[in-house]
Amino acid sequence: MPGIVLIGTQWGDEGKGKATDLIGTKVDYVARFNGGNNAGHTVVVDGKKYALHLLPSGIINPNVIPVIGNGVVVDPEVLLQEVDSLESEGIDCSRLLLSESAHIIAPYHRITDKLTERSLGNKKIGTTGRGIGPSYADKVNRTGIRVHDLLNPDTLSEKVEGALESKNQMLEKLYGREPLDPAEITETLLKCAERLRPYVADTGLILNNALDNGKTVLFEGGQATMLDIDHGTYPFVTSSNPTAGGACTGTGVGPTRISRVIGVSKAYVTRVGEGPFPTELFDESGEWLRSHGGEFGVTTGRPRRCGWFDAVINRYAVRVNGLTDIVLTKLDVLTGLKTIPICTAYDIENPDGTHTRTENMPSDRDVFSRVSPVYEQMPGWTEDISGVSSFEELPANTQAYVKRLEELSGCRISAIGTGQDRENIISIRSLLD
Ligand code: IMP
Repeated sequence: MPGIVLIGTQWGDEGKGKATDLIGTKVDYVARFNGGNNAGHTVVVDGKKYALHLLPSGIINPNVIPVIGNGVVVDPEVLLQEVDSLESEGIDCSRLLLSESAHIIAPYHRITDKLTERSLGNKKIGTTGRGIGPSYADKVNRTGIRVHDLLNPDTLSEKVEGALESKNQMLEKLYGREPLDPAEITETLLKCAERLRPYVADTGLILNNALDNGKTVLFEGGQATMLDIDHGTYPFVTSSNPTAGGACTGTGVGPTRISRVIGVSKAYVTRVGEGPFPTELFDESGEWLRSHGGEFGVTTGRPRRCGWFDAVINRYAVRVNGLTDIVLTKLDVLTGLKTIPICTAYDIENPDGTHTRTENMPSDRDVFSRVSPVYEQMPGWTEDISGVSSFEELPANTQAYVKRLEELSGCRISAIGTGQDRENIISIRSLLD
C-alpha cells in the first residue's frame, strides 16, 4: 500500500513535474493535495513540452488516475481550459477525479488577489494573481464555495450572493470599483459545473480504498516547503501547506499510510515573487544560472531569482517534511562552472555588531531576512553529463558535489536529473519499495 509524498524543498520550480512523471509511470494514482493554478509543472515527453498548472502531472500517463484532492483550490474555468488544451493534443483527461470538497476560485478571488497586491505597494507578496490566497481565505472564513456546491444551482446562487455582499462593499468602498453581478458569476460557474460533473468524486474514499487494495498512490505537492503558510518564509508564502503533512489534510488520507516522503531539490536555488533569499545572486553568475537553466516562470513567465544551493534550507526541509529521499534536479545546468559555491551556514549580524553563525534555519523570519550565506567552494566540471545513466559514470567532481549536498542536507539523494527529457535521469535507488 505505498503512499508516497513528493514535495519541493526550496521555493518551488525544483522540477517536480519531471520527478512526478518519472515515478508516475510506476504508480496507480497521482493526487495533488494543495495550491491551485499558481503551480507550474513542465513535463517533457518525447521532446514535447506540456505546461500543467492545475492538473496533476500523472495526467500525461494513460495508466495513472489523476486526482485533484480536497486541499486544492480549483478555478473551474482554468481547469476546463487545461483539459481542453491537453485533449486537443491527444491526451485523454477522462480519468480525472476531482474532489467534491475542494474549494473553488471564483472570478472575485482573482480580482481581489490583484487589488490586494496593488494596495500593498512595496510590501507586496508577488503572488501569481490567480486568486489563490483569497480562495483559501474564504475557506478558512467558512464562506467558501466547494465543488459539490457547483452541482446544486440553488445552493450555488445563494453562496455567490452571500459572498458578494461583503466583497462588493469592499470593491466599491475600498477600491472604487464597480460591484460584481452575482447572477452573472453564478451563470459562469454553472456552465463549468455541467462539464465538471463527470469528474467529481469522493476522492478521499477512492484513495483510501486504493491503498487498501495495494495500489500505489503518489501525493504531489504544488509550490514547496519554503512557501508553506506555516513553515515557509511568512508572509512571503503561498496560502496552503505544500509540506508533507499537507498530503494528509489535502486528500483525506491518514499519516500512517505514507511510506515514503521524497523531496525534490534543484542543484541551485530559484525563487519567484518577493521575500528573503539568502543565496540570491545579483551578478552575472545569477544571469548565467537563469539563462542556462531556462529559469522563467511556467505560470507567469516572470524571470526567476537565482542563487547557489542552500544546504541550510535543505536541512530544514528534511526536518519539516521527514524526508526519506531527495531527487536532485537540473544538475546539468551547473556544467561549465569553474567552482560551485554551496551555502553551508548563515552568518547573522546582531544589533550590537557581533556575529553569530548558525547551521539551522532561524525561526525568527526577520532574522532570516538579514542572514548572509557562508560558502564552501567545490570544483566544477566541464563534461556533458546529460547522457550519463549511472552515478559512477559521472565526472569525479560532479560526484563529489552530489555527495557533499547529500552530506550537508542529511538525507540520501536517490535520483539525479541531468537534462530536460524524461530519460535524462540517474536512478540511484528505487523510490517505490
Ligand atoms: P500565490 O500562491 O499566488 O498566492 O503566491 C504566493 C507566493 O508563492 C508568490 O511568491 C509566488 O510567486 C509563489 N508561488 C506560488 N506558486 C508557485 C509555484 O508553483 N512556484 C514558485 N513559486 C510559486
